[in-house]
Amino acid sequence: MPKAVGYSQYTTEKLETLQAFCGTLFHIEHGLISTRGDAHPEAILVDLNAGDGLAGGYPGSTLIMLREAIRQDLPFHLWACELEPVRADRLRERLIEYVRQCWAAFRAGPLVHVGGRCPTGCCPSCDPLTATAWVDLHVTVVPGDHNVTVETIVAEINQRVSPGRRVYGLVFGDGNGQLDFPITPLIRLSRHPRLWCTDILLYVNAAVIKRTRLGGRSEAGQRRGLGAYADTYLIDGGIDQIRKQYGMVRRPHGQQQWTFFALTNYAAFPKFRKHGFIDRDSEQGRRIIDGLNLAPTERPDGQLPFDFGPLIGPTPSTFGIPASEPSAPSSSSAAAASASAATEPERRRRIT
Ligand SMILES: C[S@@+](CC[C@H](N)C(=O)[O-])C[C@H]1O[C@@H](n2cnc3c(N)ncnc32)[C@H](O)[C@@H]1O
Repeated sequence: MPKAVGYSQYTTEKLETLQAFCGTLFHIEHGLISTRGDAHPEAILVDLNAGDGLAGGYPGSTLIMLREAIRQDLPFHLWACELEPVRADRLRERLIEYVRQCWAAFRAGPLVHVGGRCPTGCCPSCDPLTATAWVDLHVTVVPGDHNVTVETIVAEINQRVSPGRRVYGLVFGDGNGQLDFPITPLIRLSRHPRLWCTDILLYVNAAVIKRTRLGGRSEAGQRRGLGAYADTYLIDGGIDQIRKQYGMVRRPHGQQQWTFFALTNYAAFPKFRKHGFIDRDSEQGRRIIDGLNLAPTERPDGQLPFDFGPLIGPTPSTFGIPASEPSAPSSSSAAAASASAATEPERRRRIT
C-alpha cells in the first residue's frame, strides 16, 4: 500500500496527540460556546496542512479534527488548506466518505447533527448526496498555498463573525518536516483580533531547521543555494512571532526532534502532561526550547540539553478506523512499523 505524503514512524504518535488535544479542547469549547453569551456560536477550525485525508493509511489531521468536533457535538466550521489540488480533491472525497460511514453506522443519530440540528433539513441516512452537502456546509477545502489562501480564510472569518464575539477554535500546522512549517499564516491568524481566543497547535521538525541554517553558513551549502537560510531560527525567527501569551512545548522525539508547540491566550489551558507537553516558561521548557533552537555546534558545551525522548510506537487500534476502510494498513504493515520503532534507539545519532 502506498504511504501518504509525510508518513514516518512518528506520524501515528503525532495524530494520537492531535486527537487527544482536540478531544479535550473541543469539549471545553463546546461548554464555552453553549454558555457564554458573547461567544461566536461555532468553533473556527483551520488545518493549514491538511494533506489528502489519510496519513500512512490512517485518518489524517482534518479527519481527526472533524471526528473530534462531531464527537464533542461542537458546532464548527473547518477550513482545510492543501497545496496540491489533487490531494485537496481527494481530501474532500474522503471527508464525504467518512461522514457517509458515520451516518451508516449511527443512522440518524445525534453524532452528525451539530447542535442537535439537521443542517440539510432531511434525514441524513436516506440520501448519500446529503453527506456531500453536509461536508460542504461545515468544511471548506482550500486548495493552494496557505501563505496566500490565509487571506481568503481571514475574509471569510470576518464575514461569519460579528465584531466583539469571542471566537473559540483551533489552528493546526503540520508541514512536511522541511522548512515549510506554516509560520506566516500562523502569525497572521494569531494577530487577527477576532481570533484572540482561538488556540494554535504546531507540529514541527526542529532538526531540519538547524541543519539547513548551518548548511546555509557553509561554503558547500551556499553553493547548493542554502545561503538564504543562514539566519533561519525556529524560535526567534518563527514561534516567537506568533502572538499568544502562553505556550507549551512537547518534549522532542526522535532524531528529527519532532515537537509540538501549543499556543494560547488562556492561562488555565489544559496541560497535556501525559503527552509530554511542558510549560515553555518553566525551567525545563526553556531548556528544551533552547535546545530546539540551537544545534550542538552553536552551543558552548557542544551538547543538546535533552535526549531525543522515547519513541511511542504506533498503536493503530486506538484510531477506530472503520473495518471497511479500504486504505487501512494491513496488520503486516503495522507490525513492520512496530519493528522499525523498536530499532529507533540504534539509529539515534548526534544532530549537527
Ligand atoms: C505532513 S503533510 C500533512 C499531513 C496531514 N496534516 C495529516 O495529518 O494527514 C503536509 C501537507 O502540507 C501540504 N503543504 C505544504 N506546503 C503547503 C502550503 N504552503 N500550503 C498548503 N499546504 C501545504 C503538503 O502538500 C502536504 O500535503
